[in-house]
Amino acid sequence: MDDLAAMLELCCRTRELQASDLGFDLEFRPHPSAGAIHSVHTLVQREIDEDWMYYDAQAHQLVSLPGTSAVANVARNAADELVPATNASLIALVAEPDKAAAKYKSPGSLIWRDAGVLLGYFSICAEALALSFCPLGITGQPMLGRDLDEQGRLCGVGMALLGRTHLG
Ligand SMILES: Cc1cc2nc3c(=O)[nH]c(=O)nc-3n(C[C@H](O)[C@H](O)[C@H](O)COP(=O)(O)O)c2cc1C
Repeated sequence: MDDLAAMLELCCRTRELQASDLGFDLEFRPHPSAGAIHSVHTLVQREIDEDWMYYDAQAHQLVSLPGTSAVANVARNAADELVPATNASLIALVAEPDKAAAKYKSPGSLIWRDAGVLLGYFSICAEALALSFCPLGITGQPMLGRDLDEQGRLCGVGMALLGRTHLG
């Protein structure tokens, strides 16, 4: 848990807010984001059978999403098929496209680049903290979007594993 907290602090914790007319505040976090909008959220399942936890970057807190352990396990099984790592924390990047769309006409490519930037930051921070981090080829779509919001406002844009010196 300390490893995870250190990673999230280094990569994602909001340093500063700025009021905007988009319907939400702009955020200044360690990693850049198109328009300082931060449309990509970080979710974590620390261990199998636990609920997804949402990283609240402003409060620097992991907030449990009750009743999501089964869908998180489905995502973990999909990850396991690529990289078996039972003891690793599973990370899911989930985009809220409406945020970027509040400012940009064609936000798709910006969201994908935001997600890539975030994975890159996680990678380099894991290296600095002597942790193992492995981005996965799967995005988590359609399962993440479907399972986390039945109104279709969310979209999986990346999955990764975070472990100690070796995954497993
Ligand atoms: C995918 C992506 C696209 C961006 N496009 C621009 C841009 O066109 N013009 C610009 O000035 N900054 C751009 N930025 C930088 C963001 O505006 C910047 O990260 C954000 O305002 C926060 O500022 P900071 O990173 O200096 O703290 C982009 C960042 C990302 C990740």
